[in-house]
Amino acid sequence: MDVHPVIHEGRVAVITGAGSGIGRAAAIELAKIGLKIALADANEEDLRAAGAEVAQIVGDANVLVVPTDVSKLDDVVRLRDTVYEAWGEVGVLMNNAGIGPLGTSWDSLDAWHKIFDVNVFGVVNVQQTFVPSMLHQENPAVIINTGSKQGITNPPGNAAYNASKAAVKSLTEGLSHELRNVPQANLTAHLLIPGWVWTGMTGAKSGKEKPAGAWTPQETVLYALDQVRQGKFYILCPDGETRREVDQLRIMWAAGDVAEGRPALSRWHRDYKALFEEYLKDSLAQLD
Ligand SMILES: NC(=O)c1ccc[n+]([C@@H]2O[C@H](COP(=O)([O-])OP(=O)(O)OC[C@H]3O[C@@H](n4cnc5c(N)ncnc54)[C@H](O)[C@@H]3O)[C@@H](O)[C@H]2O)c1
Repeated sequence: MDVHPVIHEGRVAVITGAGSGIGRAAAIELAKIGLKIALADANEEDLRAAGAEVAQIVGDANVLVVPTDVSKLDDVVRLRDTVYEAWGEVGVLMNNAGIGPLGTSWDSLDAWHKIFDVNVFGVVNVQQTFVPSMLHQENPAVIINTGSKQGITNPPGNAAYNASKAAVKSLTEGLSHELRNVPQANLTAHLLIPGWVWTGMTGAKSGKEKPAGAWTPQETVLYALDQVRQGKFYILCPDGETRREVDQLRIMWAAGDVAEGRPALSRWHRDYKALFEEYLKDSLAQLD
């Protein structure tokens, strides 16, 4: 199964947000395949623990632990230099660090700044710093930016987080287009769109048991790697609560708000909620 030239023994993976959740699971799963792993995170304690776990799989010599705040360009430049000095290349770049403090529409300006600094400028910093070096490599490479379904269907609740993830979708689509227009570029971009995953962000550190509907970080990572192997740009992950067909219909409905001139977020609008439910039910009945 492991024939992909990038997700392959001996290649190098750089993962931001590698101290916890999806990033940590990615570090572990890629280490199991035999990649060298550079782990980056702003939480040094979690980062070192994850680094030790990964070293047990792939050996100390194949692990770099680089404390990094992705919102600080100097940190990201140091991360890149450390990796290229040690291993001379990057095969898999997972631009994954993210935060989700509550930012509502006319309140919590601080949270808006923090979220955009990490979720948007963190991703941009990493992309701007690594892509020029990765473009010069002869061997193929992938960059995977972590977005969210919330950046596509925009559910009410955390406007700042949704807006940041909408930006990640937009900038990753742009990156993909620009890369495929660079002659001889051997670098592709991918947008990871996790479902509901039981991580630090969603309560896993509370000591509570994983709700049945949430996927584990490992399930998400294994699904995502498989989609990258298939060359997919949009890595739309299901979970134990929402199957792919339901996501597809929600995304179509959200696009329909714009195309058909319905009110914003009509899925949650009192005059349209029932219509949406009917559309979902009828469409699923046709599929089944
Ligand atoms: N868990 C979900 O259900 C879900 C759903 C959709 C998208 N996501 C996205 O997945 C990504 C990973 O999150 P997770 O769910 O694994 O959460 P998590 O909190 O377990 O992991 C995120 C990691 O990012 C690190 N981080 C935060 N700010 C940082 C910074 N400035 N620099 C470097 N590292 C920083 C944290 O310390 C943490 O280790 C995020 O981008 C998140 O928005 C998660």
